[in-house]
Amino acid sequence: MTDRMADYDRLKLEELNYNTYLKVPELTSLQNLRSQPPHHDEMFFIVIHQSFELWFKEMLHEAGLMAACFQRGDIAHSLKVLKRIQGIVTCLTQQIQLLGTLTPEEFAGFREALGTGSGFQSVQFREMEFLCGQRDPWFFQFFEGRPQELARLRARFEAPSLYDHFLQAMAREGFAIPQEVLSRDLAETHKLNPELVEVFRGLYENPGTNYHWVLACEALLDLDTMWSTFRAVHILMVSRTIGGKKGTGGSSGVPFLESRLPLRFFPELWEVRNVEWHQSGGEQ
Ligand code: HEM
Repeated sequence: MTDRMADYDRLKLEELNYNTYLKVPELTSLQNLRSQPPHHDEMFFIVIHQSFELWFKEMLHEAGLMAACFQRGDIAHSLKVLKRIQGIVTCLTQQIQLLGTLTPEEFAGFREALGTGSGFQSVQFREMEFLCGQRDPWFFQFFEGRPQELARLRARFEAPSLYDHFLQAMAREGFAIPQEVLSRDLAETHKLNPELVEVFRGLYENPGTNYHWVLACEALLDLDTMWSTFRAVHILMVSRTIGGKKGTGGSSGVPFLESRLPLRFFPELWEVRNVEWHQSGGEQ
């Protein structure tokens, strides 16, 4: 190594510390209050939303790895990744409850400063939903005039969902996944397929040496459960802060959010709960 190179590396190491590595000064300079005069609680509101977006980023990062695990049929590794994603959703569900420390009167004190800003415009939340298979083109309208964000969303909309990757991995493993499921129109939300329910019934009733696939199904169901829990807790928090008022994004607010509560990412994994199981001796 030349002297000049060594000097350069030493300098870089000296510069590298907690603050420079994590870019703390940049991160903590991104909270710009819009209320006039500045409302004390607007800082809290901004920080909570910004931290959500950071976690969404991490969740998408992990979901990419999960898709890769499914693609190479590595179910053991996918379980570990799913566990981290579930942990993040749980953390977000707890985090949103912090909004319970904001009274309706305090929120009203700076709500006007948000303009038409709304969770509808969160690209990363919508990417995560598209990735999990919940695809509704109605949401594109909130990204009009923002070509980069639209392109990101379109790419997610047209790519296989996590469930598609999972079912393709099952097919490669020899499970009789119906062809119409494997070659479905990706730009639509997957619809309940009764034949697929039968495939899951077969797996649950007679896992043999495939118990890792049962664990993966249960882990996906955990994710679905946690996402729905997040939706439900968000609604409670919205009710607490704005009651029956309309949303800043133009929706009816709570009634709109409640209409999305029954949505499920993996419908067959829920439907299989309805079958009559054959008695088994809990075979080991
Ligand atoms: C005082 C706090 C909050 C209120 C009053 C509130 C209110 C609302 C309302 C009324 C909607 C419906 C869309 C609209 O008309 O704007 C909505 C959607 C949404 N909010 Fe919140 N929200 C709050 C906090 C949060 C937080 C902390 C997040 C985290 C990122 C969040 C994420 C979302 C998302 C992603 C949607 C779209 C939901 C979907 O499409 O299913 N919200 N919110």
